[in-house]
Amino acid sequence: MKSIGVVGSGQMGGGIAQVLSQSGKEVLLFDSNKTQLTNGLKAISTRLDKLVEKSKLTKEDSSGILARIKPVSAISELTGTECVIEAIVENTEIKIALFKELDQSLPVETILASNTSSISITKLAAATKRPDKVVGMHFMHPVPVMALVELIRGIQTSDETYHSILSLTKEIGKTPITAKFDYPGFIVNRILVPMINEAVFVLMEGISTVEEIDASMKLGTNHPMGPLELADFVGLDTVYSICKILHTELGDDKYRPCPLLAKYVEAGWYGKKTGRGFYTY
Ligand code: CAA
Repeated sequence: MKSIGVVGSGQMGGGIAQVLSQSGKEVLLFDSNKTQLTNGLKAISTRLDKLVEKSKLTKEDSSGILARIKPVSAISELTGTECVIEAIVENTEIKIALFKELDQSLPVETILASNTSSISITKLAAATKRPDKVVGMHFMHPVPVMALVELIRGIQTSDETYHSILSLTKEIGKTPITAKFDYPGFIVNRILVPMINEAVFVLMEGISTVEEIDASMKLGTNHPMGPLELADFVGLDTVYSICKILHTELGDDKYRPCPLLAKYVEAGWYGKKTGRGFYTY
């Protein structure tokens, strides 16, 4: 693939656009929010400047990477890309509406990949007239640093689509691991999110403090970040919505979201991106 579209220029979409461009792909970046698009491009530029400062990139390479990422102002301008990767808010209705729009606006051969962390690929695929060309491509945060991309097949995903995305993942220097079924949370979040949620219960029940919970998991299990710091880093809104999907779709109360997590989200304390979560930034 030479040319790839990315929809959503937040922390995930911006990271995805950056790694695609760093491996030589032409990237068309769309965001329905123009301010977010400008901010997303600025964030990519700042990250590239840091790599230049650390002598990991030359100034020319950095300019080339930025030049290969072209902001576009309409979905229809993504025509001509071979694949579009969606990285918008983790909300089923909003994603379904976007997949319908992508399906109506883009040529039938374009692959539609979703960076969803928990929503059914089968459901997104069913919203289109090309269900065989819909696939999950779940990057980890921070995208430029993390090696894994989880690939997820919907029940309708064709072998051809899957193999195209598998090749793309390897080509951009990431390690693919495939979830054979698109059950909620796939592999990583099925394991990670209940652990984060349990850490919030440990906090709510007064068993330990934020700092001690994180220090315990760092010192006791060699995690690079404690679960509460990681929740702030990923975004409590995202963690909460994944919790709700695991709970409702797997139907088991062991996945019930911790009420304290819900309170933080109701308060707008989403973590690092809003300046307050379990920590203050
Ligand atoms: N973007 C780009 N690069 C970044 C970055 C970012 N947001 N944050 C850190 N880095 C880079 C740094 O520049 C640094 O690079 P060099 O080694 O080249 O200098 C490197 O990463 C290490 O960073 P630091 O030295 O500042 O800090 P650290 O050693 O503590 O590492 C970390 C930071 C990589 C984020 C590490 O703490 C970590 O691995 N944390 C856990 C991350 C994780 O679990 N991610 C998955 C979340 S789950 C998910 O994404 C799925 C989902 O759907 C919710």
